Amino acid sequence: MPHHHITLTVNGDLHELDIDPRRTLLDVLRDELELKGAHLGCDSGDCGACTVLMDDEPVPSCLVLAVDAAGHNIVTVEGLLQNGEPHPVQKAIVAHGGVQCGYCTPGIVVSSVALLNQNPHPTEADVREAIAGNLCRCTGYQKIVEAVVELGK
Ligand code: FES
Ligand code: FES
Repeated sequence: MPHHHITLTVNGDLHELDIDPRRTLLDVLRDELELKGAHLGCDSGDCGACTVLMDDEPVPSCLVLAVDAAGHNIVTVEGLLQNGEPHPVQKAIVAHGGVQCGYCTPGIVVSSVALLNQNPHPTEADVREAIAGNLCRCTGYQKIVEAVVELGK
């Protein structure tokens, strides 16, 4: 298949890429741009491990073709750092003892940031709904929910 030339905006940086149009955004983020924070879990939109922001909306990057992400503003968990410091959501989750494994945590952080951007004072139910697409097989959600609700107070 002929490669497509795309310009991808990720974490504020423009990347010119020649890629197979069948490749997913997740694949390109991890293998071309070396951004390893979004993970491949289910590869079918069910687990949230690959969540990134596309124009401020959380999306499963395993279901987005990289060619379709061109022209949109993509933010990965790496792009949430502020002046080299963890994002307040990351700090709050750490402070509440809610850090989980490297597979599910980045996606949960991205979904939580998207929620707080749209709804700065979420209820527990709002947070649970926002991270409903982020599966943790260990079901350790409570401390994360508390951390995000606390942050909005
Ligand atoms: S790897 Fe994308 S939703 Fe599971
Ligand atoms: S702690 Fe990551 S899947 Fe449970």
